[in-house]
Amino acid sequence: MLKQLDEIKSKAIDELSGISDIKALEDWRVRYLGKKSTLTQVLRGLATLPAEQRKGVGVSANEVKVLLEAALARKRKELKEEELARVLERRGIDVTLPGRPIPLGRLHITTQILQEICATFAAMGFQVVEGPEVEWDYYNFEALNIPRDHPARDMWSTFWIDYQNERGERPMLLRTHTSPMQIRVMEKTRPPVRVVVPGKCYRYEATDATHETMLHQVEGLAVDENITLADLKGTLYEFARRLFGAERRVRFRCDYFPFVEPGVEMAIDCFVCGGAGCRLCGNTGWIEIMGAGMVHPDVLRRVDYDPDVYTGFAFGMGVERIAMLRHGIEDIRFFYSNDLRFLRQF
Ligand code: FA5
Repeated sequence: MLKQLDEIKSKAIDELSGISDIKALEDWRVRYLGKKSTLTQVLRGLATLPAEQRKGVGVSANEVKVLLEAALARKRKELKEEELARVLERRGIDVTLPGRPIPLGRLHITTQILQEICATFAAMGFQVVEGPEVEWDYYNFEALNIPRDHPARDMWSTFWIDYQNERGERPMLLRTHTSPMQIRVMEKTRPPVRVVVPGKCYRYEATDATHETMLHQVEGLAVDENITLADLKGTLYEFARRLFGAERRVRFRCDYFPFVEPGVEMAIDCFVCGGAGCRLCGNTGWIEIMGAGMVHPDVLRRVDYDPDVYTGFAFGMGVERIAMLRHGIEDIRFFYSNDLRFLRQF
């Protein structure tokens, strides 16, 4: 029996070396390792052998089986590799050449900063909502205390939509700021309100190093009982600290916006010169980053919030300006002129 196993082994190995295709290899497997193969018969017949032979034959038969299986696996791999080499050769593919790099897209610098600003406010409990870029005069101006003919409209040079209603008015525009969303949010919800609104705005003005016709803003609004200017300052101070670093100093000064009272502008100390005065900060030592204030009682009344019960603060910041400060970008016009040498830096 042991001799028979030995013969099977040499015969199988011998035949295997002559095999050169997968089909023949499969026939070989059936012949030597299949259910009807001699080897399998021997293994099955072990029980009928006398006990003193059983162990020796069993061990040998198993050894042969393991050996043949390993040889089969090796041969299979070899044949597959040969097949692959033939295919590559036929198609003229050289696998030793370096691969072609696949260009990777990435988020635009504005999107990156926008997401960072929103995440910072979200971490402070603000909800992120968005609104329409084509807006009604009512939301962009009227409801924000900027009636027709109010001189403050000049602050927001407007692109009007070429649509006239039956009264001959042009009531639609490209929003000039994200503040109209203050009204839309308050119309839909009751206090407490705590939202930030990222989005595009448009202004009909000449472009220069700090002005574009399309810009992004992030608006913020918080309304509840007992909200004070101290809450506004605390929130924005914390925001500046998280976005620009713990060592930044913050300054609030009076400013005018018709929809807040009092109104403020917020500035941080210049991180190029540390407040001494340089080109970036126009020699003032301070860089203005947003407008803000306490929501005007008339604005609250318009959305049926009782100004004797509720107060709130609002703010609006320019996203490109913040990105410019962050990265020391000198001209806002780089943002949307699609020069890849600029965009790839971020
Ligand atoms: C506003 O738009 C007010 N809605 C902000 C506000 C909200 C005040 C809530 C009070 C309460 P202002 O016009 O200053 O304010 O614009 C805000 C910011 O947008 C500016 O500080 C600036 O960073 C940015 N910005 C304004 N115009 C342009 C422009 N043409 N190009 C790039 N950024 C601009």
